[in-house]
Amino acid sequence: MAEGSAADGSEGTLQVTDSRTGKSYELPIVDGAIRTLDLRQIKTSDDDFGLMGYDPAFQNTASCRSTITYIDGDKGILRYRGYPIEELADSRSFLEIAYLLLNGELPDGDRLRVWTDEITNHTFIHESIKHFIDGFHHDAHPMGMLVSAVGALSTFYPESKQIRDPEIRHRQIVRLIAKMPTLAAFAYRHAMGLYYAYPDDDLSYAGNFLNMMWRATELKYQPNPILEHALNVLLVLHADHEQNCSTSTMRMVGSSEADPYAALSAACAALYGPLHGGANEQVLRMLQAIGTVDNIPDYIRRVKAGEFRLMGFGHRVYKNFDPRALLIKKVAEQVFEVTGRSPLLDIALEVERIALADDYFISHKLYPNVDFYSGIIYLAMGIPVEMFPVLFAIGRTPGWLAHWEEGLLDPEQRIGRPRQLYGGSEMRHLAK
Ligand code: ACO
Repeated sequence: MAEGSAADGSEGTLQVTDSRTGKSYELPIVDGAIRTLDLRQIKTSDDDFGLMGYDPAFQNTASCRSTITYIDGDKGILRYRGYPIEELADSRSFLEIAYLLLNGELPDGDRLRVWTDEITNHTFIHESIKHFIDGFHHDAHPMGMLVSAVGALSTFYPESKQIRDPEIRHRQIVRLIAKMPTLAAFAYRHAMGLYYAYPDDDLSYAGNFLNMMWRATELKYQPNPILEHALNVLLVLHADHEQNCSTSTMRMVGSSEADPYAALSAACAALYGPLHGGANEQVLRMLQAIGTVDNIPDYIRRVKAGEFRLMGFGHRVYKNFDPRALLIKKVAEQVFEVTGRSPLLDIALEVERIALADDYFISHKLYPNVDFYSGIIYLAMGIPVEMFPVLFAIGRTPGWLAHWEEGLLDPEQRIGRPRQLYGGSEMRHLAK
């Protein structure tokens, strides 16, 4: 609740005078917002539809109430269920964070054991899904495979349509968190023409993913603890980010009461775009295109001339710094001690140095975002560029599901249906 608010969150009223009619209105302000539906009483005549808010890309429209994640973009604050990301990132496992996002509290020892058992019991996928993945061309983008395979899960679990049943809902949540790494790793191994490495339930969530990616002839794969830790941190940092493009898509599709596999497949599709989860892939391609440190000034000049954007820079919400980027930078150092320093890191650090001192980037409030470093770490770990958005999707899955469930249980929510301002032809008739 904002400072100065009454117990019900109300803070006062907004006085509005409509210059078209001279009439005045008083709109309640609650939690720092007016209800845009209250604008509809503002009419020029009885048959006027009423005033609407126009907000392309929802830059200033709260579409829901949420208790999951808090962000203050100006101050660089990110909190999951009240806990600062800086406290969680290094100290908690991804499954603890998933539990926290979904249930509101961190699990105690017993709950964590039960939760971990539930997830590890569902890591295997139906053999037919393997055949489904086999059907993709060898150079299919793994994100395209993931979008399709997650959607296909819907046909394997028809019970998932009963979205009002809490137990059934819970089962699908567990399945999705458990199976995402398996689908992702199988998509990778299909592209590489490798046999599918099955999950190892003795390993951590991150460790098992590395096992499914890299196991070769050894009977038991042992992940490098530093790389396992780094992957865990990266997954935690990506686990939720409130109402971003993909999460809003998850809520939107969920609002039609589609099953969670359909909704999560749509969320993955939204994440796939280069302006969202595809950005880490684009960062790497950009660093490779720059090629050497000497080419950076010319590249920056072309960015400033509007030829293209500096990928991994800028954020709709964070306008001073992205707290996740700071944490990831530390992890990068640990990873490079194991893998050796990547020449792309030198280019990245120099791009960052030049951009942060440049007026264009300062005045546009453009800072490195989470994707600027995550790609470099993944590459050092041997993960191919096409897999970067897939890893983002694995990390974001608990967040998507927490929002999906919160939306379904919110009595104020109905099927999502924005309005438009029509600017097309007036009625006209076909020529006789
Ligand atoms: N490089 C150069 N200029 C930029 C960049 C960039 N990366 N980002 C924004 N700008 C400029 C725009 O050209 C615009 O300039 P103008 O006002 O002079 O015309 C101004 O900054 C505002 O840009 P918008 O697109 O309106 O900013 P918005 O908040 O809508 O965009 C976004 C945010 C999409 C992240 C943008 O900064 C961008 O495209 N970044 C590169 C892609 C990227 O890294 N995406 C990952 C985001 S993090 C995530 O999804 C996890």
